[in-house]
Amino acid sequence: MPGSRSPFPQSPRYRAHHWFSIRELAKRNLAYLHLSEPDWAGGKPLRDEFRQAIRAVYPGVIIAAGAYTAEKGEDLIGRGLIDAVAFGPCFIANPDLVERLRVQAPLNAHRAQFDYANGAEGYTDYPFLKQP
Ligand SMILES: Cc1cc2nc3c(=O)[nH]c(=O)nc-3n(C[C@H](O)[C@H](O)[C@H](O)COP(=O)(O)O)c2cc1C
Repeated sequence: MPGSRSPFPQSPRYRAHHWFSIRELAKRNLAYLHLSEPDWAGGKPLRDEFRQAIRAVYPGVIIAAGAYTAEKGEDLIGRGLIDAVAFGPCFIANPDLVERLRVQAPLNAHRAQFDYANGAEGYTDYPFLKQP
């Protein structure tokens, strides 16, 4: 959920809060619902039943993020559980991420020590597959 890193399915209080939020967001004809899933921060992966329950409640576009691979994204999109995948650190580390995913090339590893650091290092110095 936006702005939250809570272990979504584990606490009844959080669960009630998030279901309320999703139902309210569903009424508002938004461009999309963005799920920032727990995996990327060491949490448990979301279960299919949980994704299906969100689909049942939220009628619009669902974008998911959280340590996704192309395979995982294609699987969940193919099964209708999400509509698109967002990539955060992967995009920072791979200026040509879309091309790399398209040709199944290896990805540059993200260097998290440069997040929020001063300067361009860790933002503009990752190599392209083919230097433009
Ligand atoms: C340095 C950093 C800062 C982030 N700040 C926020 C934030 O302020 N709010 C938020 O909802 N998610 C934040 N995230 C989470 C990302 O939006 C995203 O959900 C997460 O990185 C997983 O995406 P991934 O698919 O690229 O692994 C942050 C992630 C990183 C690495």
